[in-house]
This record gives sequence, C-alpha cells and structure tokens, in this order.
Amino acid sequence: MDKVKFKDESINVSNEEILKLISNKAIMPFLEQNLSLIDSFVFPEFPNHDIKHSCKVALFSLIMATYFYLDNNSKKILVDAAFLHDVGRIDDYYDYDHSYLGASLVDEVLKNQPFYQNIDNLNLVRALIFGHNKTPYDNLPFIKYNVLNNDKNILLLKILKDADVLDLLRKKEIMFNENNLYLNISKSLINFSKFIQESNIIEEMIERGERDDRRNSKRFN
Ligand SMILES: [Fe+2]
Repeated sequence: MDKVKFKDESINVSNEEILKLISNKAIMPFLEQNLSLIDSFVFPEFPNHDIKHSCKVALFSLIMATYFYLDNNSKKILVDAAFLHDVGRIDDYYDYDHSYLGASLVDEVLKNQPFYQNIDNLNLVRALIFGHNKTPYDNLPFIKYNVLNNDKNILLLKILKDADVLDLLRKKEIMFNENNLYLNISKSLINFSKFIQESNIIEEMIERGERDDRRNSKRFN
C-alpha cells in the first residue's frame, strides 16, 4: 500500500482567488493542451452531458489535484479521465453501464498519445472511468484494470467523483447534495461551481482547446 497521506482540508478561498489560480499555466493552459489532444467528436452531445460538463469536471478535478500537490502524471491521467468519463453515455438519463462502455472506448481515443503507450497510465484512466459511478471503496475498478488500490489512486477516484457531483449544480432541478461529496476540499468549490455555471469561462476554454486541436491536426496531416 502507498503510505503517502494527502491532507484534505477545507480551503477558504474566494472565487476571485480561484480565478487567479486557474489562469496559472499549471491549470487552464494544461487543460486546453490536453483537450486539444482529444478528438472533439468523442464528447457526448446531450443537454445535460456535453463537452461543457466534461470540461467543468476536468477543471474542478485539476483545481483539487493542485491543492493536494499531486504529481504531473497523476494530474494528466485525472484530467483525461474527467474529459472522457461520460463518453460511454447513450443518453442523459441514469445509466449504470456507461462507465464500463466508456472505459472500453478510451483505448481508441487515447491511442495516438505516446503517454498512453505506457499501459499503467492507460489502465488507470480506464479504472477511474469505470469507477466514477461506484463508491471509491469498491475494489472492482482497480482489480479489473490491474491498478493498485493505493491511497493515491483512491484519492484520484474521489476527486473525479466529487468533481462530477459539483457539476450537478448545472441542472435547474435540485439534485445536488453536499453530503454526497467525499472530500472536504470539494465543499470549498461549491460556490465556484455555482459561479462558473453563469460565466463563459468554459466556452472560452473549449474555444482555445479546439483552436489548438486544429493546429495539431494541421501539423499531423
Ligand atoms: Fe458526469
């Protein structure tokens, strides 16, 4: 077992401070660069599950990962799992199996990235996607994809699950319940999630990520 302990404290920061933090190159440009490596057609296009939802989950995940001082490899895997966690959806409604389907589709989506030639990296993305609609204490995703269920990987799963729950605030009907968050740090992001639903930060991020995408496809063709 990984003995590293990660401090999970509530942080008391304003939306302005979080905005300042995310403009830092370790957050927004990191997200945009990784978004640009994923073909935009893979994102679900349902009213409640679209590329904006995927990008908000990736942003909340990366903010939390930054507060936990996670390493860059873990951040990259977490962000890609967040971008892709709903690729197996076939509609907007409750669908337990979308996590399995999504985990099966990511090999194809990520196969051009040298980072995922490393099977451990690919398997961790798969385990996170498969686990995102289960409890983080369920061993199945880790066993299924041959991934260690150590403290760090369980933390990555809790971050992804909480980031997904935080974006329930996008829905008009009340489905968000603070008690469904696993981490204290996530509670500090509730106001930020409310704020971001009304802003155009995510649209601008997608626009910049897709511009990079077009540049990359020119370079590769
Ligand atoms: Fe989701």
